[in-house]
Amino acid sequence: MVQNGKSRFFFIFFEKYVIVFCMKWKTVTLNETDSTNLQALSMPIGTVVRADVQTHGKGRFGNKWISPAGNLYMSVVLKTYAEKTPLISFVVALSVAEVLHSKGLDISLKWPNDILLDRAKVGGILLEQHDEKLIVGIGINIVSHPVLDIPYPVTHLGIDISPTVLMDEILTTLNYFLDRFEKQGFLPIYTLYKQYLMGLGCHVRVRLPNQTLEGTFKDFSETGALLLELPNKTIQHVTAGVVFFE
Ligand code: BTN
Repeated sequence: MVQNGKSRFFFIFFEKYVIVFCMKWKTVTLNETDSTNLQALSMPIGTVVRADVQTHGKGRFGNKWISPAGNLYMSVVLKTYAEKTPLISFVVALSVAEVLHSKGLDISLKWPNDILLDRAKVGGILLEQHDEKLIVGIGINIVSHPVLDIPYPVTHLGIDISPTVLMDEILTTLNYFLDRFEKQGFLPIYTLYKQYLMGLGCHVRVRLPNQTLEGTFKDFSETGALLLELPNKTIQHVTAGVVFFE
């Protein structure tokens, strides 16, 4: 009996330890690096890498992420979630949206995980899976944005907040939504994410790796797919791509 009692106590203690561990991130801060996503690769799960400047910041689909001082560049090392891993993209996008929305900003999300301020891109998220690790890179333009020849508007927050403070707020919110995702599944995240989602019902072009589709953005499915109604009225489930509005 005493033995059982002891081991139970130990187990509870161990559970608490795990909870405490899960609630805290180990932060690594760098003045300048190639890419926080690259640096995060060699770090253990639970680490967050933030850099003041990136020399080779990476965007989605092999794009560059121009990364001068003053903006937020951070990468979080998470565990993977088997077949549900791609849904983390929406958990992260929602977390960032909630933090920025709480500052009175007009925030929306462009499927799957572009962060928009006043309908212009203010931040992006890059998920990279390596074996058992999921590297979640988050870039937010705080004080500046690049002037690029791209077919959508880009902007910066223009509010008085440091990259470190913004990162801490995002991490706290991400903790909360990851916890909900683990305990309650995707549905609560899906419902909240959808409230920020831009373009439902609109005519869109969706650039896929080897073709571009046009149609109506009919819905966002509970599996995270964009449901595109093609001109022939069939519904295409898109799981990765870049959306452009007309
Ligand atoms: C996108 O193309 O929208 C995603 C951009 C992700 C940029 C961030 S900045 C921090 C992290 N490190 C990188 O090299 N990329 C991501």
